Amino acid sequence: MAYVINQECIHELDGACVEVCPVDCIYEGLTKRYINPDECIDCGACLPECPVNAIDATGDGPDPVWVADNAAFFTTALPGRDAPLGSPGGAYGTGTIGVDTPLVASWNEE
Ligand code: F3S
Repeated sequence: MAYVINQECIHELDGACVEVCPVDCIYEGLTKRYINPDECIDCGACLPECPVNAIDATGDGPDPVWVADNAAFFTTALPGRDAPLGSPGGAYGTGTIGVDTPLVASWNEE
């Protein structure tokens, strides 16, 4: 089970988490970051770095909505994309993805 990023990251995009992640598994959407559940090694390094407490450890019972949404960023074809992102092996290589999940996009419309 991986760590997850919740709604507090939306429009924050601080990025301190990205700097400390040893496997570079925190990817940038349009207005929020997402943790790849297949690449995260559950080290916990990102947790204390977030200035807005947007990261939840699965052991602490994060909202299942955000567990599913972090996974969906990688396992479903995002709006405007033909295929799922999958597990690219690091956010440095992909750069900013530039699109959010439908849930986050709708969150921004509220
Ligand atoms: Fe990365 Fe460890 Fe967090 S692998 S996403 S810094 S729990």
